[in-house]
Amino acid sequence: GVLRGAKAKNSAVILQCSTGAIKYAGAAYLKAMVDAAIEETGIDVALHLDHGPSLDAVKEVIDAGFTSVMFDGSSLSFEENLKKTREITSIAHAVGVTVEAELGALSRGEYSNEDEGKQIYTDPSQAEEFVKNTEVDALAVSIGTVHGMYKGEPKIDIGVLKEISSKVDTPLVLHGGSGTPEATIKECISNGICKINVNTEISMYTVNKIKEAFK
Ligand code: 13P
Repeated sequence: GVLRGAKAKNSAVILQCSTGAIKYAGAAYLKAMVDAAIEETGIDVALHLDHGPSLDAVKEVIDAGFTSVMFDGSSLSFEENLKKTREITSIAHAVGVTVEAELGALSRGEYSNEDEGKQIYTDPSQAEEFVKNTEVDALAVSIGTVHGMYKGEPKIDIGVLKEISSKVDTPLVLHGGSGTPEATIKECISNGICKINVNTEISMYTVNKIKEAFK
């Protein structure tokens, strides 16, 4: 569905798999499925691991042919996150795979399948130091979006995003795209966000369609 949408817009697209999806389907099967879809649509696709928890998880998908990985060390101390991300960047870059990392943390909204987390906004000075030392290709930042649907009004801090953007040239990633108002998404894009993760909206649509079909 995502590929057909991208084709209709004549756009390249990033498809990403969670570790949960990889656990039930297998990285090689997912890669083969995506290859078949690429062949059908002719769209340029990056196949990305979302929230990779470890070096082993990253290595598994690189071996399967993914073109991009995220290492999520956001629950570690700043120093540990930097050290592990640096290690993963060296390994991935050696085989032409790009790396996304995360600083700060998102909380969990409604209908999310992500782990519970406390909202910690990204510190712009830390972001600058982190990017310089890790040489990541993309940095996920926490500016008030949540994983899942919002329980109340979204409280997105564009000021924090602006400050990060003024210190960091690396493309920035917005996690928690679902339920974020379109005007906010556009404002984020004009202030440095280059990749937007959307999961819950797509999953809810799919689940509702399956429910309808069963009925
Ligand atoms: P949503 O489920 O809120 O769209 O967030 C997706 C996400 O950030 C995956 O990494």
